[in-house]
Amino acid sequence: MNCLMRRSQNLLLWRNSCVKHRSTDAASANRNAAGKLSYEEFIGHQQKQAQRSIIVQVSSEKSYPELYNYCSRFGSILGAHHYCVRQDEALHYVLLEYSTSGEAAAAIDSGVSNGDLCGVPVRSPFLWFRAPPAGSKRSPNLAPSGTLPALNAIDGGRVMESSQLLALVRGAQSIDEQVLLLHKHTRLNDLGIRLRFLAALQVQQAISGMFPTAQAQPFGSSVNGFGKMGCDLDLILRFNDDTGSQKGLAVSEPSRLVFHTKENLSNGRSQTQRHMECFGDMLHLFLPGVCHVRRILQARVPIIKYHHEHLDLEVDLSMSNLTGFYMSELLYMFGEVDPRVRPLTFSIRRWAQSCGLTNPSPGRWISNFSLTCLVMFFLQQLRQPILPTIGALAKAAEPGDSRVTEDGINCTFARDMDRLGFRSRNQSSLSELLLQFFEFYSQFDFHNRAISLNEGRALSKPDHSAMYIVNPLEQLLNVSKNVSMEECERLRIEVRNAAWVLESEVENVALPVSEGERQEHSWGLLNLFKHPEKPLIRPNMFFKPRMVEVSDLFEQKELTPSPSTPQ
Ligand code: GTP
Ligand code: MG
Repeated sequence: MNCLMRRSQNLLLWRNSCVKHRSTDAASANRNAAGKLSYEEFIGHQQKQAQRSIIVQVSSEKSYPELYNYCSRFGSILGAHHYCVRQDEALHYVLLEYSTSGEAAAAIDSGVSNGDLCGVPVRSPFLWFRAPPAGSKRSPNLAPSGTLPALNAIDGGRVMESSQLLALVRGAQSIDEQVLLLHKHTRLNDLGIRLRFLAALQVQQAISGMFPTAQAQPFGSSVNGFGKMGCDLDLILRFNDDTGSQKGLAVSEPSRLVFHTKENLSNGRSQTQRHMECFGDMLHLFLPGVCHVRRILQARVPIIKYHHEHLDLEVDLSMSNLTGFYMSELLYMFGEVDPRVRPLTFSIRRWAQSCGLTNPSPGRWISNFSLTCLVMFFLQQLRQPILPTIGALAKAAEPGDSRVTEDGINCTFARDMDRLGFRSRNQSSLSELLLQFFEFYSQFDFHNRAISLNEGRALSKPDHSAMYIVNPLEQLLNVSKNVSMEECERLRIEVRNAAWVLESEVENVALPVSEGERQEHSWGLLNLFKHPEKPLIRPNMFFKPRMVEVSDLFEQKELTPSPSTPQ
């Protein structure tokens, strides 16, 4: 009985948590009948918000009232967010959101070059607030007290301190609540999303004069709902729009005047590499905040990597990875279908990181993306599935859903999940699903079977790759081709260990313990995040398991100093 009550409380908890999340992230945007934003609506909403925003470096948050007064001359300020980068000597920034993009543009256009510093002035949403010239008066106090929008600092863009997070998760009442708390406190928050869309807008605006149709579009974990605080920004620079973002608009007669273009002089790939080289130089030489630019042009998908010092953000810019953009849409849709999907995936990604199965740099180990595919597949193949198959989505597509990339890859699937009429009857709690996930992959025959999210079932493996996940959008490719035999074996061992640990944790939670005991010791989910002193299973290991403590998992990056000294 107690168990049943706890389960229904937990169900309520994750439902509430999800409603809260949606309402804060995109409060003012339009929603469909089910109250959810489609991916394109979400992207469009965030892009518009970025166009209405500027980021101003200040000496501290104390400058906010003066900044507000000064910047109010350009328009009406809807909201303000304060964040810092660098821990030792914090650099302070305020993101101001105006009510229209014209007002933000007026503020940017009022920007002047700083005669004291060298460097070519560049128009961008990144500004700094300098002291008024000597002898001149400070801005008059335009805002009557009380009308100044609160400076939103709770929403800071930083990863939460590990000790604080640990205490929060320890203090939960159940493993389900721990999963929810971990998700709530580590997912990319509203400010994190805003900052990433501003990074995209900066690139787009910088080149808009010469490339009026260029779009810098965020994808990956920054927008698919599976991103955690501090995640990198994947950005695709596109020159033709086939995302359908304008498809719903009434189109007037197409213009008869067409831009002349430069004839392509070489094949597509080397042309892209040349272009990227050129954009890489431009970012490196001119764009404020952009530093440590690296060109990785020989990769399957050539990218330019850089660090943004005003945002404390790593960016991967590509020009030819449109399937990644649509794959992000699929993941976004899966995350929206059921409120258990994202918290569950967060716990699994955190567990994989803690036992060294995943690593921020690419290699012979499973990537976060492949791991997410494993979670999605697990949720599809349940007796009572929680997710539909991608095949079902493709079947339900209507003409408006048609998307074909520039290189001819068909990414057509129903964008409105409701059209499928898919309703899950699965009532499992998060801890039950977590345990089932580990048990499922303990048994999975990676040796002979391939994972197909298109069909929601395992298929015969078409080659000898250690792990085979059919690429949902290019079904002849294997998403996890990089995974070595050793790493696949390690995954199998780790899921078995995790199943074992979690099973005993679930039993322990049923025993009565005092509040103090819970607070003092790692329990439940937290015990998945470190290796036990003695590994529970000792199969033929050809690797040494990495010992990772929970507190190792929440690192913060350091930045190089900025030359400017803002007001
Ligand atoms: P983190 O960066 O680790 O937080 O996760 P991520 O989901 O952003 O992964 P990553 O940066 O590696 O890739 C960005 C996006 O590209 C993913 O979310 C996918 O949408 C897409 N992607 C990555 N690898 C593949 C692949 O092999 N095939 C396809 N179709 N898409 C991919
Ligand atoms: Mg990424």
